[in-house]
Amino acid sequence: MGNILIRNCDIVDTVTEKVNKGSVLICGDTIKGVFENAVSDDELSAALNTRAFKLSDFDGHIDSNKVIDAAGLTLVPGLIDMHVHFRDPGLTEKEDLEHGEAAAAHGGFTTVCAMPNTKPPIDDADKFLDVTKRADAIGLTKVLQVGAMTAGMQGEKLSDMEGMAKAGLKAFSEDGKSVMDTTLFYSAMEKAASLNIPVLSHCEDKALVRGGVMNYGAKSKEFKLPGITNSVENIIAYRDIDIARETGTRLHLCHCSTKESAELLIIAKDMGLPVTGEVCPHHFILCDDDIPSADDANYKMNPPLRSKTDRTALLEAIKEGIFDVISTDHAPHTAEEKSKGFSGSPFGIVGLETSFALSYTYLVKSGLITLPKLIQKMSFNPAKILGLDRGEIREGKIADLTLIDLNKTYKINPDDFKSKGRNTPFGEYEVSGEIEYTIYGGKISYEMLQ
Ligand code: DOR
Ligand code: ZN
Ligand code: ZN
Repeated sequence: MGNILIRNCDIVDTVTEKVNKGSVLICGDTIKGVFENAVSDDELSAALNTRAFKLSDFDGHIDSNKVIDAAGLTLVPGLIDMHVHFRDPGLTEKEDLEHGEAAAAHGGFTTVCAMPNTKPPIDDADKFLDVTKRADAIGLTKVLQVGAMTAGMQGEKLSDMEGMAKAGLKAFSEDGKSVMDTTLFYSAMEKAASLNIPVLSHCEDKALVRGGVMNYGAKSKEFKLPGITNSVENIIAYRDIDIARETGTRLHLCHCSTKESAELLIIAKDMGLPVTGEVCPHHFILCDDDIPSADDANYKMNPPLRSKTDRTALLEAIKEGIFDVISTDHAPHTAEEKSKGFSGSPFGIVGLETSFALSYTYLVKSGLITLPKLIQKMSFNPAKILGLDRGEIREGKIADLTLIDLNKTYKINPDDFKSKGRNTPFGEYEVSGEIEYTIYGGKISYEMLQ
């Protein structure tokens, strides 16, 4: 493996929340130097000298050395998406590990958590190791395969939680649904606590869904479609927080969509409980009023786009630092499956290749939060929750890095996606922030071709 010198960029520090000009030296898979203010040839020569390199080592005469002239670009720690669906094994007509990893790299991600609702679901050590091995062999992003809490995700008995933990698993989740048997869920939470592994909770009271396909409200009435009330999410969010309080399990609430979920998070945090929460771009950018027609299933996901009041509350909670994480819930489906409108299509939209630009445009450019705060939510905080030594640009750390042109404004074009999925409501949206390079373990996993 060679060396890479990233010259003259803006470096985001997720600890001090400052942005400093400088250069970064990568040797093999490791960050060898973070040279603040080293911009001119003289400054950079002096800095490189401290690491036994010369600037001329990067003038093209050594093949294994590469220089990236990053003037005007911004360097952030590799992005981490705590919530994606890669559909592998068994549902690979929607997505597979190759396309999922390529989409992640294209989106600036160096680590993703892949949910276990595959076919069969990932519920034991062998299945966990199979996906992990195949994903590592592709090597474009770290796929942390999440393990189901119940066998076959049937909600009847516990999965091989211990076996998966021993095999190196970082999180449990029953995503796609909740474990509705509260006694069983309580046992799963106790088990997760004893293994010191967090639970990523999809909050949905199955009995209360009543066939709903979109948010309950004026729009569902206009479309004459069954609606999903906020209580469907809130009841389980409260249940899970209360069980985390008693069991001490680290609980992470997935894709919070309601005002009340945000309020529950505030209460849980005020009580000092080990509870964190995530929010997805579609929920803080769109609301049910934005759904153009009951035929357009690119606006159909679970939980659904909520009311304007909910969306405003989510934005306020992001501003106040209530949400720790921005995730995508990247949920690819085939065009054929998504062609059947709100009543006939599956829930879910893709997100990996639009998440950074949408979040930067709607949260940072709009003035709601600073860039370092955004990168905390898209890298530093997920790393902390998952127990990963990632999320900071620091000497000695693994070189997972993302280089972004924040000034580049463009229209989202789903045809550019590397994912198999094209199901997004954000086609034609004008956004700022283009991923130029993604570097995963010191190797360039994505490079924007000029
Ligand atoms: O929209 C969603 N899609 N929500 C889920 O909970 C599951 C996911 C999927 O697997 O397609
Ligand atoms: Zn979910
Ligand atoms: Zn999901």
